[in-house]
Parts: sequence; structure tokens; C-alpha cells
Amino acid sequence: MSGITRRDLLVGSAAVLASPAIAGIAAHRTFAAVDQSIEMHRVSHEIVKSMPTPGMMSFSADGPPPVIRMRQGETTAIEVRNRLDEASTVHWHGLRIDNAMDGVPYLTQAPIEAGESFRYRFTPPDAGTFWYHPHCNTLEQMARGMTGVLVVEDSEDPGFDQDLPLNIRDFRIGSKGQFLQFYKARNTARGGTLGTISTVNWRIDPAYDLPAGSLIRLRLAVTDLTRVGHYTLTGGEAHVIALDSNPVPAPMPVDEIIMGPGQRADIALKIPDNEGEQVELILRKPSGDVRIASFRATGQSARRQLAELKPLAPNPIPEPDLANAETLEFVFGWSPAGDAPANPICGNLGYLFWSINRVAWQGDFPDPTAPLAVMKPGKSYILRLRNETPYEHPIHLHGLTFRLLRSNKRQIPSLLTDTALLQAEETMEVALVADNPGDWAFHCHVIEHQKTGLTGFLRVET
Ligand code: C2O
Ligand code: CU
Ligand code: CU
Repeated sequence: MSGITRRDLLVGSAAVLASPAIAGIAAHRTFAAVDQSIEMHRVSHEIVKSMPTPGMMSFSADGPPPVIRMRQGETTAIEVRNRLDEASTVHWHGLRIDNAMDGVPYLTQAPIEAGESFRYRFTPPDAGTFWYHPHCNTLEQMARGMTGVLVVEDSEDPGFDQDLPLNIRDFRIGSKGQFLQFYKARNTARGGTLGTISTVNWRIDPAYDLPAGSLIRLRLAVTDLTRVGHYTLTGGEAHVIALDSNPVPAPMPVDEIIMGPGQRADIALKIPDNEGEQVELILRKPSGDVRIASFRATGQSARRQLAELKPLAPNPIPEPDLANAETLEFVFGWSPAGDAPANPICGNLGYLFWSINRVAWQGDFPDPTAPLAVMKPGKSYILRLRNETPYEHPIHLHGLTFRLLRSNKRQIPSLLTDTALLQAEETMEVALVADNPGDWAFHCHVIEHQKTGLTGFLRVET
């Protein structure tokens, strides 16, 4: 449990706005009062033109989840008010922050009940593109819309004219705008249930007008529940400058960017010099290429060049000591467990299809099972991730960033990330320094897999 009690929480939320007597208490705090706040709401929104989708959920009372911005190394408080009719929590995906602020029910905090608030407060050590989402009734709440982009601004600006976050995801919406069933069990036991409509910032194929010849930082965040997507950018000069929040050692081409659920790519894009020319963001589906957004040049060219951009500063991630690292084994496979236990407050799908090290996560309960591994603080570890299934699994670890080392199937770049996208039957080794104490959720980010067993946690001792 977090150190935040119900009483602190009331002081943090109602009090700041309320009576002068209590406002006095708030003024004595050494940290800033609530810096930002978000509200969880049911909304109705037109994803499909003139066909509003009722029963959507957002971190806003009207429309898509806001982009949350904060600065590297600066403490931020975010007041989360739950105006849904069910419990929830917020997880800040990719942020290496205090365990108590990580947003995992029971593992790090009590669920935020309907009508209640929780005050998150943390200091992001890394800059980059992150995202946020609930970790309670995750499949349904995310399927209904609760996935937002979180930007941690670099302390030194690399020289872009503009920054454009792109929240990329599908929805399962039918021709009348209504939600379709969020998953089908037979898909859950395979690669997962794909959406029917691809969106960027809750819009179908939006067109952005941007100054001709300007330099734009596109912040792609795949917040989809299921899709491992192949993306490409055509018609402009561009390169990938960061993946999963971390600058890449050298710029990478944009012709095939593969991202699973939860992954991000930052792209430096030069908008064409000629007014009217456009750059297209394409999702390559098995059924053919689909344009999901476009960026159109307007006005006189600013005549900027990609070469003018300063390289991004690396994030302060400790480098593992491979010579002295201990290896921990994880096997991602089928579940031996059968049906799921009934009705945890944060929901389940009724099945347990998947497991880690033969243990299927039963759901979010007040007394979680044992950690999959216990790590000593400050020590280096190699995690050997073995996918014994014929499906892809984006394996995500909270609270710690790891480095990709090697695969038994292919050459992989030595990237820093929070998510290892395992191919079918692939074994990958990744390494980290266990420098952030706490119980860190460790799961597949195909949410149907996460919710049917493919979840656990790793403990870093204090
Ligand atoms: Cu986006 Cu448990 O994670
Ligand atoms: Cu996470
Ligand atoms: Cu999976």
C-alpha cells in the first residue's frame, strides 16, 4: 500500500478548493498545491461522423483524454477524480517513479472508488513520450477510450518549431457508432481481438495543417489494446529520434516502425517547403495500407533543416554490469489454471488462458500472490524472456527501464525500453539495474492477455 491515506487524499483534493481554514493547511505544504487535475468521465463522442458512440470513457468531461505535460526532474502533482460509476486507478506508463504512485490496484494503492479522488505526486527522471491509462477493469476502461499521451519535456529544447502528440489506437465500433463486444474469447486465447476503426487523437484520418518548411516533433504513442502495428511515414524528410521515451543512438529510418501496444516513437519531421504538399502516416495492415493521419504544408516555407536539431540528451538510466549480473528466467505460455475466480473489483474476463512461469495471475485482489522474482537493490540482472507461444507478446515492466541485449531469432538493436516486443517463440535477453524499490507489475500489454493470466510482478527490495 502507498503511504497516502484517505485523509491525506481529502486534504489534497477538496481542501485546496474549500474553506480558508483548510486552505491554510495547504499553504504550509512545502510542495506546490495540485498542479494539474484530470477527471474520469463517461462521455459520448463522435468517432464516426454523425454517429456518436455512447458509453465512451475519458479523462475529460467532453472529448479525448488531454495530453498531460510535465518537465523532467520537476515534481508534479496530479489530482485524479473518479466520476465513473466504478473503481479505477491511473498508471503512468514508462515513468520510473515511486512505487506508491504507480497506480496498480493493491500492489501499490487501493482502487480509487467511484466518486473518490487520488492525488498522484512524482518527479519524472526521464524526458520523452509516455502515456497513461487505468490499471483497473483495464480492458473495458481502455476499450472505451481511457488512454492518453503524457509528455515529459526535455530540460534542454532540441529546437523544434512544434510538438504534436499522436494518440494512435483502434476502437471496436460498429457501423451505427455503437461499441462492439470488446473481446472474443477465441481471440483472447490467440493474438487478441483487433479494433474495427483506426484513430489518431480520437479522429479518423485527421489532417494537420503545419507551417511549410518547419520542424515538427511527432510523438507517436500506440495506446491500442491489441495491435502490433507496422507504421511508415511517406512524403517528407523524417527520422526516428527516440523509441519508448529513450533517444536512439543514431537516427533511424521511418519506413518501417514496428510498435506493439504501449510503445512509442518520436519522429523528427520536416514539413515540405511547398504549400499543399503533404506527409502521410500509414498503418500497414494485412488487408492493405491505411492512411491514419496527414500533415499538410501551409504558407511560406520556414526553410528549416533537420540538421539544425540538437540531438536529444540520453535519459539517466543506469548501465547494467553484465559481467556480474544474475540471470532470471521467465516463460510466457499457456495457463494450467482453468477458469478465473469470480469478481475482483477491477474485473476479469472469466478465463485464464495465459501464464508467466506457469502461474496465471488470478486478477487484482487485496492479497497478491508472490512476486515472480526478488531483486536486490542496486544489483544488475539479465531477464531471459522466453515466449513459448506462436503469438507476439509486448512484455512490459513497470518502474524500471531495461536494455535489449539479444534474441535467439534475430539481430536486435541495443535499445532502452520498458516493453520488449517478443515475436512468436522468441527468447530475448534484456538487462537492468534494480535501482527502484517496490513491487513492479510485469505483464503482456495485449490487454486480453494481461487480463487472462499473463501478469505478475517483480519485487525490488529496499
Ligand atoms: Cu501500460 Cu501495466 O501498463
Ligand atoms: Cu507501465
Ligand atoms: Cu501477450
